[in-house]
Amino acid sequence: MTSNFRHLLAATGIAAAGTTSPALAIDPFFPDFGNDGINVLHYDISLDVEPAAGTISGKAAITLRAPRTLDRFALDLHALPVSEVLVNGTAADFSRKGDKLEITPAKSLLSGEKVNVTVAYGGVPDPLADPTAPGDNLFLGWFNHRKSAYVVSEPVGASTFFPANDEPTDKATYRFKITVPEGYTAVANGTLVAQTPVDGKRRFIWSMTEPMTTWLATVHVNKFTADLRHAPDGTPISLYVPEGTPQSHIDGLAKAGPMLTYFETLIGRYPFRSYGSVIVKDPKLYYALETQAMSTFPEDASPPDEAFVSHELAHQWFGNSVSVAKWEDLWIAEGAATFFETWWQHRKDRAAFDQAMLDIYDYVVAQNLGPAVVDRPEDLFSDRTYYRGGAALYALQLQIGDSSFFNIMKHFAQDNRGRNVTSEDFIATAVRFSGDGSVRTLLESWLYDDAVPALPGKAKRTARTGPVPRPDIVGGRCGRGSHRGAPAACG
Ligand code: ARG
Ligand code: ZN
Repeated sequence: MTSNFRHLLAATGIAAAGTTSPALAIDPFFPDFGNDGINVLHYDISLDVEPAAGTISGKAAITLRAPRTLDRFALDLHALPVSEVLVNGTAADFSRKGDKLEITPAKSLLSGEKVNVTVAYGGVPDPLADPTAPGDNLFLGWFNHRKSAYVVSEPVGASTFFPANDEPTDKATYRFKITVPEGYTAVANGTLVAQTPVDGKRRFIWSMTEPMTTWLATVHVNKFTADLRHAPDGTPISLYVPEGTPQSHIDGLAKAGPMLTYFETLIGRYPFRSYGSVIVKDPKLYYALETQAMSTFPEDASPPDEAFVSHELAHQWFGNSVSVAKWEDLWIAEGAATFFETWWQHRKDRAAFDQAMLDIYDYVVAQNLGPAVVDRPEDLFSDRTYYRGGAALYALQLQIGDSSFFNIMKHFAQDNRGRNVTSEDFIATAVRFSGDGSVRTLLESWLYDDAVPALPGKAKRTARTGPVPRPDIVGGRCGRGSHRGAPAACG
C-alpha cells in the first residue's frame, strides 16, 4: 500500500548512504514499516493518558536529519488521528495512507539539516496484528487493560502510540512526558527524572539518553508500588509492581541487582544509567520483554524466577545496547539471552551448566532445527533463534575455551555499544579476538547450514534413547511462561 511512496523515495536516490550512522530502513521481513530518507535523532513524546477511558492525547516532537534533500517524508503511525504537523515550527501538509503519516513540509528538508517535526495526535490506541504469528490473533503495541495501559512492541508495535521510523536501525534517544490521573504511576524506559503534580494530575518524565530502537520503547500506566534500590555496583534499580503484588515477586525481580553486577564481570559495563522491571497484570500477556532499561514481565511469571530475570537482563547488552541490524539475525539477541540465562543459573556448577547446554543441543538435534539465521518473520521467535542460537554460542565456547569466549562476548557488547550489528559482525569479532580462523567455519555452519553441526569435543556423545524434552527456557513463541494466552500450537 505504501510501497509506491517508498519506491518514489528510492528512485530519487534518497537512501541513507554516506552519513555517519545511516538508518538502513525497510527490513525485508517487515516491508511496510520504516521509511527511507530520514534518520531520527530524538523522540520527545508527551502523552496525556486516561486509563479509565483508554485514550491518549499526544504530542511527539521529533528531531531528525535527512541525509539527502527531501521534499516529503513519512513516519509510521497506526490508527491514531492526527490534528497537526509542524516542521521547524511551520504547519506542514500531511495525509494518511494506511499506517503511513506522509508529511510535505512547506520548504524541502536540506541534506544534513537537523529538523524538528511536531505531530499532535490522539485517540484510543489500536494494537497491531502481530506479523510474526499470522492467524494467531496476537497483537502488538499499546494495550489498555482494566484501567491500566502497557506496551509490548517487538517487533513492529511502536506506531500504535507514537509516530515512529519503525525499523531497527534508526536508533534515537527518548524523553517521555506522561501525564496520568492522581493515584496512577507512569513508567517508561530509562530513568525517572521528574515527577510533578499538574492540574490535579501527575506528570512523570522519563529519559532514555542512550540510543534505543523503536520496538523497545515502552510506557506503563497503572497503580504501581515502586521499590527503589541499587545493584551492588551502584546502578539504580527500580521495580514497579501493581497493587497487591506479593513480596516474593518483588524479591524475584530484585535479583536483577546482583545479576547485573555479576554480568558486568563477564561482559563489561551495564550499558544504561539505570535498570528496572515492571509487572503487567493482563493475563493475555504471556511473555516477558526486554524493554530497554525497564524490562516488562507478565504476571504469569509468578514469582519472576531467575531464568526470566537473567534472560531479560542479558538482553540489555545483547539485543538492546547492541541490536540487530536485520531481524533475520535475532539469534544474536535470543541466543545470547538463552546462553546467559543458563550460565547464570549454573554459574557455580560447571558440570550442571554443560548438562543444561547439552540438553539444549540434544533438543536441537532431535528436532533437526534449521539454521539460527531465519528467513521469514514467522520464524523470528522460533526454536531456531533461541535454541540453535544458544547452542551456537556454546559450540563457540567449547571450541575456544571460556576466557576467550567471554572476551569475545565482552568486546562484542562493548565495542558495538549503542549500535546495530549483523551475524557477519559477530563472526568477525569472534575470529579477531580468538585469533582462530576455524571459528568462522564453525559459526557459519551453526548460523547458515541446514544440518545441525557436531559440538566441538563432544562428537562421541551417545545419542539419547527416547524422546528429547524441550528444555524450559525463557522467551520465544512457546517458551517458559507461555502457558496462558500463547498460540494454540504451543500445546
Ligand atoms: N524478546 C522476548 C524475550 O525473549 C520474547 C518476545 C516474544 N514476542 C512475541 N511477539 N511472541 O524475552
Ligand atoms: Zn529473549
